[in-house]
Amino acid sequence: MGKFGLDANLGLPAQGPRLRAGKCATGAARGQALDDCAGQLESCISGAMKQILTPLSQRLGLRYPIIAAPMFLISNKEMLVAAAEAGILASMPSLNCRTPDSLRETLEWVRARTNGPFGINLTIKLTDPQRLELDVQTCLDLQVPVLITSYGNPTEIARRAHARGLTVLHDVIRLDHALKAQAAGVDAVIAVGAGAGGHAGTISPYVLVPWLKENLKIPVIAAGCIATGQQIAASLALGAEAVYMGTRFIASAECGAPDEYKKMVVGGSPDDLIYTDAVSGVHANFLRATVPGAELPNAKAAEAGAAQAAIQEHGAKRWKDIWSAGQGIALAKDIKPMAEIVADLVREYEQTVSALPRLG
Ligand SMILES: Cc1cc2nc3c(=O)[nH]c(=O)nc-3n(C[C@H](O)[C@H](O)[C@H](O)COP(=O)(O)O)c2cc1C
Repeated sequence: MGKFGLDANLGLPAQGPRLRAGKCATGAARGQALDDCAGQLESCISGAMKQILTPLSQRLGLRYPIIAAPMFLISNKEMLVAAAEAGILASMPSLNCRTPDSLRETLEWVRARTNGPFGINLTIKLTDPQRLELDVQTCLDLQVPVLITSYGNPTEIARRAHARGLTVLHDVIRLDHALKAQAAGVDAVIAVGAGAGGHAGTISPYVLVPWLKENLKIPVIAAGCIATGQQIAASLALGAEAVYMGTRFIASAECGAPDEYKKMVVGGSPDDLIYTDAVSGVHANFLRATVPGAELPNAKAAEAGAAQAAIQEHGAKRWKDIWSAGQGIALAKDIKPMAEIVADLVREYEQTVSALPRLG
């Protein structure tokens, strides 16, 4: 993979993931030596291209340790390019491309527009095996820098990806799954905590992230409800080497979600969500207003049953008509281009870290 070696630390303190001036990601992504970026070096030193570095973000070639998580139907090639240019990494499920050929075309489209890293999500058991094999092969052929595996055993994909020098991340909601993923050879696990968009776990990120970190040898990435720079600071403080954010990026200009969906995300509260297995068979968070039957006045325990019946009766298409989001909707305030969201996150992060009370 493109490991763009962003270690140049131009004079700021080395310890801790603080904003630091360093080699500009654009130049680095293009594999240029620092000498070749002479024109940009001055702005790097003056702070225009500061970075927040962790070992994992350096390995992935990111300016900031932020990953835009893959979201079925709505993450798209525009997000991959916008994220790469903003110094973070975005990912997209391979199934967001109708066919393996369109996946190849999409990857070529992205490559023609950015030299930065990006990721493709392979949903192992949710994908027809023949399609999965074609998608894996396409990702290997086109050297997709990061493969994100979910819903299945990543052993074989990790083995093949590593033979090509690619990085594999795997998402988990529990320690036993994380230990299996580590044994399968993945490079890092994504700890998906309670309240996340999509298929969410039930363990608080306050426990899940440090618990996995304590028990694993590979890096942990924090996921679930993260929508602000404060939460990024908290995640890194808990031991995460990067954050993985879905819901916040639904409300990006580039995201392929319908406008109505984006508006619900920025105007919502956790009370607007229902955590149910009625839609896909696995517990996930959905915007209640889009789940048929979930508005019925009944006890929480009955909601799933009512929703299931209504979904069958009304034939609502899962994920297309029933919209998923996480509790981060309470903190996602505006719809804007990804670059601006990233700039907000970085500013909030730095303000948070600077304002933390120290022992004194
Ligand atoms: C609409 C939507 C679709 C999703 N689709 C997928 C998917 O196809 N594959 C996957 O591994 N995770 C999927 N997820 C989960 C995200 O990748 C990620 O774990 C989650 O969004 C993180 O929590 P957050 O939304 O609270 O930031 C989806 C999440 C959402 C909101």
